[in-house]
Amino acid sequence: MTSAHNRVAVLHGVNFDILDRRDPAIYGGLSLDVLERRIGAWARELGLETTFFQTNSEGEFVEFLHRLPDLSDAALVNAGAWTHYSRAIADALDVAGLPAVEVHLSDVESREEWRRLSVFDGLVLEKVSGKGPEGYREGLAILARALGLADG
Ligand code: DQA
Repeated sequence: MTSAHNRVAVLHGVNFDILDRRDPAIYGGLSLDVLERRIGAWARELGLETTFFQTNSEGEFVEFLHRLPDLSDAALVNAGAWTHYSRAIADALDVAGLPAVEVHLSDVESREEWRRLSVFDGLVLEKVSGKGPEGYREGLAILARALGLADG
């Protein structure tokens, strides 16, 4: 069977399992389950197939990235706080070598200074931040274009 090159892995990092317990003024109060369902529906509209992964373990996140080229054609990544300091995760994403978009629910540029740094700088096609769940839709559209599934 030939692959359609439409598989997107959606990776959430540390503290996303408790998304609905985090500050609703910043993160919107929705659960990861609800967020993933929305992402899955948007992906289907774009002709993309999604798989979802979340862990609070940096090592597990790295190991998932090691397996990624066998599982997926592209990645949508919100690594949470690891975004700002985990060079190990950045190295693993680099090795995976897939088109990737970095997403953040909150506007990381307008929060604390330390959130402005991203270890994924230069490794991802784009960084989408501060748009809430809609940012994932934008990220999926960027990946659909990168995979040749959409115009523009
Ligand atoms: C986040 C922003 C990060 O700075 C923070 O550590 C998170 C969530 C976001 O989606 O806005 O855990 O990635």
